[in-house]
Amino acid sequence: VQVIETVDGFRKALDADRTQGRTVGLVPTMGSLHAGHRSLIERSAADNDVTAVTVFVNPLQFAPTEDLAAYPRDLDRDVALAAEAGAAFVFAPSVEEMYPTGPAPLTTVTVATISEPLEGRTRPTHFAGVATVVAKLFAIAGQCRAYFGEKDYQQLAVIRRMAADLSFPVEVVGCPTVREPDGLALSSRNVYLTAEERAVAPRLHEALQLGKRRIEKDGERDPRTVAHAMQQYIEAGKEPRFILDYAEVVDAADLATPTRLFGDVRLLVAARLGKARLIDNLGVRAR
Ligand code: PAF
Repeated sequence: VQVIETVDGFRKALDADRTQGRTVGLVPTMGSLHAGHRSLIERSAADNDVTAVTVFVNPLQFAPTEDLAAYPRDLDRDVALAAEAGAAFVFAPSVEEMYPTGPAPLTTVTVATISEPLEGRTRPTHFAGVATVVAKLFAIAGQCRAYFGEKDYQQLAVIRRMAADLSFPVEVVGCPTVREPDGLALSSRNVYLTAEERAVAPRLHEALQLGKRRIEKDGERDPRTVAHAMQQYIEAGKEPRFILDYAEVVDAADLATPTRLFGDVRLLVAARLGKARLIDNLGVRAR
């Protein structure tokens, strides 16, 4: 695997491969790679001739109160994992390389409406930070397929819409969430959990399964009733307890809350557990 630190070097490397007729897969990450990222890299390596993993902890998507400084970083480990999973390149630029005009670029990308509910309520600047850095990565990488996990479902929706609205020559591919055997979705932030918190963390996924049963088995069609059942489940249970941020049921395509559940819907939850803020989601079809 070749590690590239400059925008120019990365652009030229991918251009050279495409000139030889090779297809390119892009896996944007913030590093601290785990089995979830590995599944994205392997999927890209299966679909494309050349896979590039980007490792960049993007300051623009962290609020001042969030964990930018503490965010886990280990480039050597990430490079080894990316190579093992089949990547040809790791693009690991510095902050100055990605934001050459300074840490507050005058040009940013905002995806209206779908950035606003759910995560957007407590993290109002987060998706503009994500959309901006991903737009830059797409502009640098050029024509490719780009792979993102469904774990960050709202992020995936925002990126899909951004790529379509701005006509990037990029096919955005969403990939299933990878879970621990007890259901906890893999996340770089799981390292913040103490042993006691880790033991109760699967409750978040259990709440989603409860919501899914309410819709599929019990035929519940009121999104508020399903959301309420998930909220209660997350907030019950023994110590250490979750501090619930949201538990919602939305339309899978536009993330709006319907009056009645019909077709493809998405259940989404977010809660704090100790130092970690965990999110998870599940797709359900209401027939
Ligand atoms: O999901 C992530 O790791 C990040 O939000 C992304 C898409 C790499 C943008 O920084």
